[in-house]
Amino acid sequence: MIKTAVFPVAGLGSRFLPATKAIPKEMLVVVDKPLIQYAVEEAKAAGIEKFIFITSQGKEAIEDHFDSHSGLESILQARGKTDDLTKIRSIRIPEGQALFIRQHEPLGLGHAVWCARHYIQEDAFALLLADDLIQATTPCLKQMVQAYSEEDGNMAAVIDVPKNEVNRYGVLNILTQFGLKVCAKAVVEKPDAATAPSSTAIIGRYILRTSIFEPLGFKKQGAGGEIQLTDGLQTMLGANVPLTGFRFNGDRYDCGTKVGWLQANLALAAADPELRPYLESVMTTLKVPLAG
Ligand code: UTP
Repeated sequence: MIKTAVFPVAGLGSRFLPATKAIPKEMLVVVDKPLIQYAVEEAKAAGIEKFIFITSQGKEAIEDHFDSHSGLESILQARGKTDDLTKIRSIRIPEGQALFIRQHEPLGLGHAVWCARHYIQEDAFALLLADDLIQATTPCLKQMVQAYSEEDGNMAAVIDVPKNEVNRYGVLNILTQFGLKVCAKAVVEKPDAATAPSSTAIIGRYILRTSIFEPLGFKKQGAGGEIQLTDGLQTMLGANVPLTGFRFNGDRYDCGTKVGWLQANLALAAADPELRPYLESVMTTLKVPLAG
């Protein structure tokens, strides 16, 4: 049973500057909701009951977003705006179910995850990176939780990426594949295209054993001088803890990049019955010609 989810939100978001100078990257909006809300909704749909955010200075907007806002709520109530009231109330994380932990320095994803080590009671937990937005009929984490019930060890959502993009990901060295599952014999962070063991890359959804905190606690610097989660997974593989890649059904948008964020906006607008009728005319009446 996976009941706890960790959301690391303490990164710099430097690829999205200046937008992310005063606003957390995870609060960037896709259509009408911030990225972190998509991730929290996905976690709720998978049965998560405890939400741990790894934050840093300047990320307070995330905490506020999931809190109640009594001033706004009473104005909406007084004005009879019940739909809006329901909308903002449904965002709340129930009292006592959210925890905000500070990462003092952005030392890497592995270090951010390690910051949650004292707060997870179960043997396994979910990890969601909000800048990966996943559009799916069955939410990605729910698919993973179902698949994980037949597995042991660590699980990571994977996609196949173009060879020239492997150097942005943790990449699997594949032992066997069966259905949607890929059994890894090794994993390497940000390999060169020439030496990458495959094009099967990890994206921002994981189910991890709490024993991952042990190798992460070594604080070994990996690719880019950061403490890498991938290195912790590799150490566990060396200790015979399996790593399963999971090819989920759905589309993933890397909203940590401008192109991915733009794709996500267009894809979600196309899926929104209110916006869809306008999308074509918006594109065709663009004043800036796309060709040339
Ligand atoms: P990224 O690798 O996208 O890094 O982190 P980043 O700092 O957010 O963005 P860039 O590369 O500077 O543009 C993936 C996720 O891990 C979190 C980020 O907040 C993001 O959700 N993270 C990363 C941390 O919480 N702490 C870290 O030290 C690094």
